[in-house]
Amino acid sequence: MVREKLKIMVVDDDAGVRRSIVRFLERTGDFSVFQARGGKEALASIPSVEPHLALLDIRMPEMDGFTLMERLKSRLPGLPVVFITGNDDVEYYRRAFFGGADDYVTKPFDQNRVIEIINRVIYYNLAAQTLPNNDHISIAAAWGKGLNFRDSTTGCHSERVATTSLFIGREMGLEGQDLTRLLIAAWVHDVGKMGVSDAVLLKPGKLDKDEWKEMKTHAQKSYDILNEISLKEWEGISLAAATHHENWGNGKGYPFGLKGDDIPRDGCIIAAADIWDALRSRRPYKEPMPASGSLELMEKLKGKNLRPDVVDAFFRAYEKGQIIADFSTCVNPFYSG
Ligand SMILES: [Fe+2]
Repeated sequence: MVREKLKIMVVDDDAGVRRSIVRFLERTGDFSVFQARGGKEALASIPSVEPHLALLDIRMPEMDGFTLMERLKSRLPGLPVVFITGNDDVEYYRRAFFGGADDYVTKPFDQNRVIEIINRVIYYNLAAQTLPNNDHISIAAAWGKGLNFRDSTTGCHSERVATTSLFIGREMGLEGQDLTRLLIAAWVHDVGKMGVSDAVLLKPGKLDKDEWKEMKTHAQKSYDILNEISLKEWEGISLAAATHHENWGNGKGYPFGLKGDDIPRDGCIIAAADIWDALRSRRPYKEPMPASGSLELMEKLKGKNLRPDVVDAFFRAYEKGQIIADFSTCVNPFYSG
C-alpha cells in the first residue's frame, strides 16, 4: 500500500524562500507541497488542496501570517500551523502561540529540523484528533496550557511532555482509549503546581531544602485535584499523573514511594518525558544539557529511575524524529515577564 503523501501548504511572499522550502520538502518524498504568494491565494486554494499543515511566513504585504492563520483555522479548525519567519521577537511568539500555532521556526533554519517539526506536529494532531474521547484531551490540554500562566520558568512544559508521552506510548503499542488516557494524564501531570507558592515556583535560582519539600507537594496535589473528577473517561488519570516523580528502580520517588510495576505504566511514560524535558530545558539556575549528554543520561536511567521498556520506546521514537530535540523555540508564549 502506498502511503498518502502529507500535504503541506507553504505561504511566503518571497519567491526565493518559498522555492527553497518547497524544494527541500519535496526532496524527502514524503510531502506533496502547495505554494502560495500570499493569504488570498492560500485561502482560495483550501477546498482543492485540503492541507495537513500550513507553513506560514509572518510579514507579508497582502495579509500577515497571524490573520491568515486565523482565517485558515476558521475554515479548517484542526489545521496545524507552523510559522517560519525572520522574526524572533517575543511578542511575535506570543501572538503565534496564542493564535493557535503549533510551532515557530526562525530563519535561517535547519532543514532537517523543519522536517522533524512538521512530522511531529502532523502526527500529534492526527493522533489527537482521531483518538476516542478527544474532547477530553482538549479539556486536559486547556488545563495544561493554563498552567503556563503561573509557571514562567518551564513554559510550554506540559505541551512538550504530552507530545513526548504520546509518541512513547505509541511505540509501546498503546492505541485508542489507552492512548487517550495517557495523553490526558500527561497534559495535566503538573496541575498540582497551581498549589505551590510563587516564592518557590518562580524562584530565580536553586531551591533550598524546605523549598524543595514544598515543590515536591505538587505531585500529591495533582492527585488530589484530579481525584475529584468522577468522569469515567478520567478514571486512573489522577494516579497516572501523580506518579511521574516515582522512582522505578528503588521506590524512593514521590509522592507514594512506589517501585517497579506498582507504578502505573502511564506514570512511567510521563516520568521519562518529564525527565527528558527537564534535562533539555533552560532553568533559572542551569543551561539546557546538550542533546547528546541528555540521551546518554536517559540510557543510564534505564532500569534505575525509569522503566526499561519505556526508555527503549523513547529511543525508538527519538530515532524517528518524534521527540522534541531542539528547544530553541520553546519560549513561554503566555508570559511576558
Ligand atoms: Fe512534576
